[in-house]
Amino acid sequence: MSDTGPPSPDEGPALRDKRVVLIISGGIAAYKSLDLIRRLRERGAHVIPIMTRGAQQFITPLAVGALAADKVYTDLFDREAEHDVGHIRLARDNDLILIAPATADLMAKMAHGIADDLATAVLLATDTPVLLAPAMNPKMWSHPATKRNVETLRGDGLFFVGPDQGEMAESGEAGVGRMAEPLTIADAAEALLSQSPEAERGSAQHKPLAGRHVVITSGPTHEPIDPVRYIANRSSGKQGHAIAAAAAKAGARVTLISGPVTVAEPEDVTTIHVESARDMLQAVKDALPADVAIMAAAVADWRAAADTGHKIKKDGSGAPPALDLVENPDILATIGHHDTLRPLLLIGFAAETQNLVDNARSKLARKRADWIVANDVGPDTGVMGGDANTVRIVTADGIEDWPRMDKTEVATRLITKIGDFLSSR
Ligand code: CTP
Repeated sequence: MSDTGPPSPDEGPALRDKRVVLIISGGIAAYKSLDLIRRLRERGAHVIPIMTRGAQQFITPLAVGALAADKVYTDLFDREAEHDVGHIRLARDNDLILIAPATADLMAKMAHGIADDLATAVLLATDTPVLLAPAMNPKMWSHPATKRNVETLRGDGLFFVGPDQGEMAESGEAGVGRMAEPLTIADAAEALLSQSPEAERGSAQHKPLAGRHVVITSGPTHEPIDPVRYIANRSSGKQGHAIAAAAAKAGARVTLISGPVTVAEPEDVTTIHVESARDMLQAVKDALPADVAIMAAAVADWRAAADTGHKIKKDGSGAPPALDLVENPDILATIGHHDTLRPLLLIGFAAETQNLVDNARSKLARKRADWIVANDVGPDTGVMGGDANTVRIVTADGIEDWPRMDKTEVATRLITKIGDFLSSR
């Protein structure tokens, strides 16, 4: 039974009739869990909610239970629940455990195997897949302790979706830490459950980037002119996202920093959504350190100098308004010249319509990149927004010409080259 009717035909069946234990921990983002329950049930999942004590400060078990149409579990030593189900059964009899929001505190406990309430006891006792949707203040997300805990949990085989870049509900502070949107979390849950054990076993055989952290930028940036208009470009994000997917498949921990795109988020990748070049730079800095960084985004070179704060109106004279532009920070060059953040291997792209190799060489030197993936993006090539790409890899040692191929093949080949480079060091 669903509050919003049966799943529509275009929705994947992966969540249908699946038992999803939803652990809600204590953060302001808990209010979004109510919508998440609806999204999961829309796709046919049976949601079994567990709320921590903290979560109950933000939303009530009554509301959660009403939306889930099931009992809400809150206590480790609940006489009725222990008799009827028991936390061990809650940990076992399910297809997926989803933690949304996952607070810094809960992740710290999980990383250390602490089991002092129902949620943590279930998490320690389970062998089903666990997907976390972290939500916290940006400073807490970028704190070395949280970074260590995330690394540990990933190493333990847990999956992550988000957090996103954006304004915090409680403080208005901007940065990475906002919980992924309920639809995105439901998509990630579906993607996780649609992976067949055979496919997982197959991909586990060859993981040349296992243990490596790879940061990738992708897509365009949007630079606001006023609250309704922006400067953008034709980048689709297909190439950057394909590289992220290939890196994840090769076993890397991948952080994808994506401008506004319509392509789907790759599986097993932490995707951070940003709008502007300045947000993208900050998100890249927050995501580093990494072994490899690949800057595939088509960052807008300029932004409007002034923030009007209001929609620019026609003044009746027929004359267009003057639009003053200032240059955006260069993300690749900033990281290339950075003393501590520069990764072992830094790869840039060069989108050119003329003098491909000369321009790529000069970008290689100017931005202190190790390799430049140069592509001709002239109007006749169909590269911008298209599915195929013809690239030349420009390094200090020379140039490699690759034939025209699908962007996913370019991605796989690039990741193989990166694997070879890392293993030769
Ligand atoms: N890049 C960046 N930050 C910018 C501009 C570009 O990180 N503000 C990165 C891109 O992600 C890419 C490389 O620099 O990896 C080259 O980008 P491209 O658009 O080809 O060149 P630009 O440096 O913008 O120079 P131009 O537009 O003059 O060709």
